[in-house]
Amino acid sequence: CGIVGYIGQNDTKEILLNGLEKLEYRGYDSAGIAMLNDDGMNLFKVKGRIATLRDRVDSAVHATMGIGHTRWATHGVPSEENAHPHQSASGRFTLVHNGVIENYQELKKEFLEGVTFVSETDTEVVVQLIEKFFEKDQDTAEAFRQTVSLLKGSYAIGMIDAEDQETFYVAKNKSPLLVGLGDGFNVVASDAMATLKVTDQYLEIFDQEIVLVNRGFVEVQKLNGTVVDRKPYTAQIDASDIEKGTYPHFMLKEIDEQPFVMRKIINEYQNENNELKLDANVRQAMKACDRVYIIAAGTSYHAGLVGKQFIEKLAKIPVEVHVASEFSYNMPLLSEKPLFVFISQSGETADSRAVLVKIKEMGHPALTITNVPGSTLSREADYTLNLYAGPEIAVASTKAYTAQMAVLAILAVDTARAKGLALDFDPMQELAIAANAMEILTDQKETIEGLVRNYLETTRNAFFIGRSSDYFVCLEGALKLKEISYIQAEGFAGGELKHGTIALIEEGTPVIALVTQAEVNYAIRSNVQEVVARGANAMVVSMKGLEQDSDAFVLPYVHELLSPLVTVVPMQLLAYYAALHRGCDVDKPRNLAKSVTVE
Ligand code: G6P
Repeated sequence: CGIVGYIGQNDTKEILLNGLEKLEYRGYDSAGIAMLNDDGMNLFKVKGRIATLRDRVDSAVHATMGIGHTRWATHGVPSEENAHPHQSASGRFTLVHNGVIENYQELKKEFLEGVTFVSETDTEVVVQLIEKFFEKDQDTAEAFRQTVSLLKGSYAIGMIDAEDQETFYVAKNKSPLLVGLGDGFNVVASDAMATLKVTDQYLEIFDQEIVLVNRGFVEVQKLNGTVVDRKPYTAQIDASDIEKGTYPHFMLKEIDEQPFVMRKIINEYQNENNELKLDANVRQAMKACDRVYIIAAGTSYHAGLVGKQFIEKLAKIPVEVHVASEFSYNMPLLSEKPLFVFISQSGETADSRAVLVKIKEMGHPALTITNVPGSTLSREADYTLNLYAGPEIAVASTKAYTAQMAVLAILAVDTARAKGLALDFDPMQELAIAANAMEILTDQKETIEGLVRNYLETTRNAFFIGRSSDYFVCLEGALKLKEISYIQAEGFAGGELKHGTIALIEEGTPVIALVTQAEVNYAIRSNVQEVVARGANAMVVSMKGLEQDSDAFVLPYVHELLSPLVTVVPMQLLAYYAALHRGCDVDKPRNLAKSVTVE
């Protein structure tokens, strides 16, 4: 979910709506804004997108203070009632919240007997509780503090008291929240992206802190009331990076940006003498560890699977890759000197952060590989490597995935060199070749759109098969396709499909087979024959040097180790055109959010 708040001199409507549009990647099933002026609180909520909210908001309302929210449903279906902001029974307090209040049932039972609730959300409990405590002492700040002190779970909260046009109440735990500073105004946002148009000066807010925001000043406090001195920092994002320009969709723009991202990474990780340039502490940590534990979710997990190959093959360090949300339950026996590597585009994924908190408590070192310097995972880990992919807006991750693999390859080579291992792999040269190959592929959009017509336009399901590193790209290719086109797609190890799932192959079922590794060329082509014999509509995507006449698409040659970076590009484009042809919302697929800050 996303939060934006403004208190200043100007009309707040456009600032809030524009901010929410920038935050839609965090969820978009319902939205709302509340604006306070002399007439009282003006509340507008809708089920659906910010565009719908824009239509609903009364343009005649003028206010210089307000909060807004875009929601990704956790407790309660997407609906107008469940949309934020939520209000207390008397209407005096209005609040938005990201995260999950784990003890909301208990709090409701203990303090709010007899109160009528209008929504099913955990958030409403928070705002009702503030009113309950306020009734006792008539002190808003105290009621806010008392309430926040009782909350368990994750929250970023923005609250307004209808009787006070001067103060904005903010609290944070585990969910991201920043305060932006301006001249005569201040803003609150769950991501600087929302408010970059008005300021690039931000205050980081830490867990279990409360902030009182006025037009002229901001006061950060600990839960016990102690005032904290905090210096602002300058946000590094360029506001123009978050516009889609002439592209119809962010996803297409981001697919096309991949060759440039590769070149940017080459530049950033190389010095004038063409030597690898990496934080010496990261090098030391890699050298010192006896096992790497990669923790990630979604697409970043898929990049981690490829990263494991790089680190094991090149740096000769054993690697385990874990889905973040499962790590705590299925915690492996850790080695003596583990190094945890968190891969996260956003640097905010709550599942990954939960693991980071846990392993820090255990005293283990952590490295975060992220696209967002200054994000929670980056701040809380010991070391960070940046992806330099530029803001990724489309919900389906593309350029961050290829950037993650590129940085992992550089990390693996750097470690190998630091350990004195002999290598005949020049990562920068091979990445430059991969960048050129990506460019050739992004120029072949029409061919790929043609493949979509032949294979994916009307199908109900699709399978991706591959062996070795092609298998990992199959997982990512299937994820891309299902998340944006809603075709039920699965990626399988070539040898595994026949052990069960082949039962689903019918006349015409699309099976996309990846063939980029010489070692498995024969075996995967046999698997293709097995499905073709059962009626499948097979699309073979092979790499130059391994191609056969019947192959549907041939990739330019790149080093076998780096083939996932290039193979994935046509998979991304297949998903893009399949979604487009099937009339889906490419950049904002249903039910998803780009950055999931709840566990
Ligand atoms: C969400 C997104 C996915 C993403 C995953 C991990 O579920 O929809 O596209 O791969 O989170 O995100 P992260 O920012 O940690 O890479």
